[in-house]
Amino acid sequence: MNLLTTKIDLNAIAHNTRVLKQMAGSAKLMAVVKANAYNHGIEEVAPVIAAHGADAFGVATLAEAHQLRDLGIEQEVLCWIWTPEQDFRAALDRGIDLGVVSPKHARAVIATEAEHIRVTVKVETGLHRSGVDEDEWAEVFSALAAAPHVEVTGLFTHLSCADDPADPETDRQVAAFRRALALARELGLECPVNHVCNSPAFLTRADLHMEMVRPGLAFYGLEPVDGLDHGLQPAMSWTAKVSVVKQIEAGQGTSYGLTWRAEDSGYVAVVPAGYADGLPRFAQEKFSVTINGVDYPQVGRICMDQFVIFLGDNPHGVEAGAEAVIFGENGHGATDFAQRLGTINYEVVCRPTGRTVREYI
Ligand SMILES: Cc1ncc(COP(=O)(O)O)c(C=O)c1O
Repeated sequence: MNLLTTKIDLNAIAHNTRVLKQMAGSAKLMAVVKANAYNHGIEEVAPVIAAHGADAFGVATLAEAHQLRDLGIEQEVLCWIWTPEQDFRAALDRGIDLGVVSPKHARAVIATEAEHIRVTVKVETGLHRSGVDEDEWAEVFSALAAAPHVEVTGLFTHLSCADDPADPETDRQVAAFRRALALARELGLECPVNHVCNSPAFLTRADLHMEMVRPGLAFYGLEPVDGLDHGLQPAMSWTAKVSVVKQIEAGQGTSYGLTWRAEDSGYVAVVPAGYADGLPRFAQEKFSVTINGVDYPQVGRICMDQFVIFLGDNPHGVEAGAEAVIFGENGHGATDFAQRLGTINYEVVCRPTGRTVREYI
């Protein structure tokens, strides 16, 4: 029995994939599975997504792209964080598409002596993180068009403000993207498959789906825009088994610094998850856990391996071994937990680490 677990519901992943595939309609569906499938476990999750309708996969690093090929994933794989100093050739040889994010990256792929390689050009449209700048577009597009061994699948860009559907920045970025696309085609690139939509844009802007969409978060069942409901099922729950229940007298404190003291006599319980497991120390007293449907507040300092909850006079008889839901099924959702901590659900699902063991349903 594991004390600290993320339960990953693969049926939820399959369901979400089917929902997203239907929403994508004629657009191809690329599943973003970077960061170990948003910490859900790429080895288990990617095959499920592949079997339920994804046409392509998106990852950050070369290592993640190789991992997908090692798993036997045959769909297109696009990787967008790499440097020309790395062994990117090995990825190209495995049919992995590289994102060309700067003129230097373009020169590096053009210089490879492979017979046929595929790239997608990432164009800068406003995020100012990575992507070919507008004043470099012509140079990069022309150079790629003149390289007979390089197939350019299309262009992509990443949106900065799509999680606020009212923000006009999305339309401004898309206008820039369309300028890039027109120029690329004028300079001889066909660009058959182009994409701009992350989860928030995919779910709120059907008019921007183009030939492919590129969501990540939605596959894991979470909504990127507060208040929306697309019938997705959250796949991750973070739970721990209570290790100790003990009495505390009124006025006594608990955990380092005794920063919290019991107002009334009662019981505290220890939950074996700490900052070494990804539960940040700054979460102190910002959340509660759920045990058999009842909420108990977290109290006192969060330690490396454990934190304390207050059970009051323990009317429901919580004992060692009881399951405490930190977030997820039968508890507070990841989005709710994130809001209590002052962060976003993306970060919350990436947090469980350390002694946490993944269990798959
Ligand atoms: C380039 C790129 N595309 C798509 C995504 C997927 O975003 P989301 O999880 O919001 O769908 C990410 C993730 O941040 C990304 O970096």
